[in-house]
Amino acid sequence: MTAIEALAQQLEALANEAGQAVSDAATPAALEAARVKYLGGKSEILRVLKQLPSFPAEERAAVGKLANDFKRTLENAFALRRAALAEASDSAAVDLTLPGSATPQGRLHPITRTIDAILSLFVPLGFEIIEGPEMELEHYNFDALNIPREHPSREAFDTFFVDRPSPEPKKGRLVLRSHTSPVQVRVMERRKPPLRIIVPGKVYRPDPLDPSHSFMFHQIEGLMVDEQTSFADLKGVLEQFVRALFGPKTVTRFRPHFFPFTEPSAEVDIACASCSGKGCPTCGRKGWLEIMGCGMVHPNVFKAVGYDPRRAQGFAFGMGVERIAMLTYGISDIRLFFENDLRFLEQF
Ligand code: PHE
Repeated sequence: MTAIEALAQQLEALANEAGQAVSDAATPAALEAARVKYLGGKSEILRVLKQLPSFPAEERAAVGKLANDFKRTLENAFALRRAALAEASDSAAVDLTLPGSATPQGRLHPITRTIDAILSLFVPLGFEIIEGPEMELEHYNFDALNIPREHPSREAFDTFFVDRPSPEPKKGRLVLRSHTSPVQVRVMERRKPPLRIIVPGKVYRPDPLDPSHSFMFHQIEGLMVDEQTSFADLKGVLEQFVRALFGPKTVTRFRPHFFPFTEPSAEVDIACASCSGKGCPTCGRKGWLEIMGCGMVHPNVFKAVGYDPRRAQGFAFGMGVERIAMLTYGISDIRLFFENDLRFLEQF
């Protein structure tokens, strides 16, 4: 056997051994240790390469080629194994069997839900949903609703005045509307009967916060006008509404009342569900819970919007959304709706 043949055999054995070490290396550290052993400064192959000058000139090229082939093969094997180990450790970092991270789920505010529930009972009766401005002119909030400037009832609608010049001084100062009734006027001003509208929105009154008062709350206004729309129509629509919202056995009572913009006027009460009219803490021992105001549109309101009161007849009603939400959900403090406390809101 020539010296070259012996060397070739020796390198082949070494390559096999190194190949085995590469595939046995289970971690990057083990692989690096194998690389140092077979290709490092003190490795067998380096020793061979260092002895190259001592080979006879005609053999040097062949020995060099053997050694370089060995080196290149082994370097490839190390690189492949290194990449494989890195990939394995990447995929180990993502555990596909772990549960996903939960995204908190939002929900509708109880006031929004109550508004939606109420509107969805009027829409099938032909009422069209309309909205109006929260910043209103005195003319719409008061005068056109038969509440003239010096009328004492105007004080009942305590009002926030807006510190900004009126865009239409003839229609008075700017106010935050104290009820949704001004939208009746705005709609009648630009449309002729017959009309049926239902108007949700925010209203403002300078009341100190307490369990039943807030300086901002929501109302839903209704208006139906035709040539002959009677108090019987008013009762029919509102009784049907009350039974749909509070249950088919709910008892209603129309109690005479006063509003400047309706005549006659009434407040609608429902018999307290907790005591069926006997009187208990829920209803303040009255047996009845007031849920809205209503009445036949006053002739002066028709005149203010340019209708002929002899040819138009209609009814209007207005209800407080928070009050209805408190009754349906059994909530005793109005402030809970506006504090944004998730412990409260997550219950709906
Ligand atoms: N606007 C009245 C209020 O806020 C409610 C109401 C509306 C009464 C329509 C009668 C007719 O108290």
